[in-house]
This record gives sequence, C-alpha cells and structure tokens, in this order.
Amino acid sequence: MKLSQKLAEDTVDTVFKVLVDGSKQDYIGEKISQLEHSLQAACSAQEAKADEETILAALLHDIGQFTTSADHKQMLCDASDVDPSAPKKQISVGITGHERIGAQYLSNLGFSEKVCILVESHVPVKRYLTGKYPDYYDGLSGASKLSLKYQGGPYTQDQIEQFETDPFFKLKVQVRQWDDAAKVVDLQVPNLESYRPMMIRHLLAQ
Ligand SMILES: [Fe+2]
Repeated sequence: MKLSQKLAEDTVDTVFKVLVDGSKQDYIGEKISQLEHSLQAACSAQEAKADEETILAALLHDIGQFTTSADHKQMLCDASDVDPSAPKKQISVGITGHERIGAQYLSNLGFSEKVCILVESHVPVKRYLTGKYPDYYDGLSGASKLSLKYQGGPYTQDQIEQFETDPFFKLKVQVRQWDDAAKVVDLQVPNLESYRPMMIRHLLAQ
C-alpha cells in the first residue's frame, strides 16, 4: 500500500494523538508517564544507532495499550498486590494482548513488517527473559510481575531454545532492554515531534 504524503502526515498525526492521549492514563507502578517511557525507549534506540524501523518500534512498542479496540480486555488484579500500601481494589495492569493489538494497528496503518514484529515481540521477550534469567523476574515492577501471569508466564526450556533460533532474537531482546531501562524520572530526551520526519519517511517507503 503506497501512502501519499498527505496520508502519511495524517497517519503520523493519528499515531501521535494516540500516544499523547494514552499518556494521560496512569502508568501503573511507574513514576513517569507512558509518553516519557516511550520517548526514553526511542532515545536509547537512537543513541545505540539502531536503524529507523527499530527506533520507531521502540517508540511505538506500547501503543496497543492506548488504541481503542473492541477486543480490549483489561488485565485485572488487586491494587495491594502491586503496592502493599495501596487500598484493596481492582486495578488494571494493562491490556491483554496489547503487543498483538499494537502490531496489528501499526500494520493496518502501513508500518513495515519489521516494526510490527518488534512491537509484537516485547511480551514474548519478557517471557523469554523471565524463563532464562530468574534475576530478571526479580527486577520487574509489581505490575509487570502480575501481568506476566496473564501473558502466559515464563518460557519453558523448550520455548527458550526455540526463541533463540528466531532471526530477530538479538534485536527483540535489545528492544526489550531499552523498554525496561526507559523508566527514569526527569530524563531529558528528544520530544515526540522530533520523530515526525522519520515516521513520515518510513511510511512513504513502504
Ligand atoms: Fe514499555
């Protein structure tokens, strides 16, 4: 699907609006906004001199949390399971299958297969890393530990070995590492608008 310049610009406006509006929601268990989180992940990808598809995947990896979709189902748990000092009430630790919803959403808008594969991978990589490295699980936030149960839990040894044969294995793990590190309070990073030319260039090249 070849996008016109106008359609590419409109698509970027749509995506940016989803990210900005989504950022108004709470980022469960974190002290920064979802938008700051996404911008920090993209900045790490840029600093590592990743290619543009990988930078865009880092920027957009959580977009499936914010798109409006009929199949959005919240992963519910008790607030006191995330934070022991919180009152007992049901809260959401994210959207079930947000990685697949996000990848599908981006594919429909004309983003490349590589961007979509990397967006879809950030939950499988979490399952891989928790299966392979028990210490990795210990470092997850309370909300991320709880959502892991909904996401299928840590990979088994067979699943770990299978995942390591994936041609994008290293890159998928790398994106997840930028994702995990993107939780720094008050870090100054390039703003969302700085990614506009890159995103338009990407969409026009498909
Ligand atoms: Fe994330």
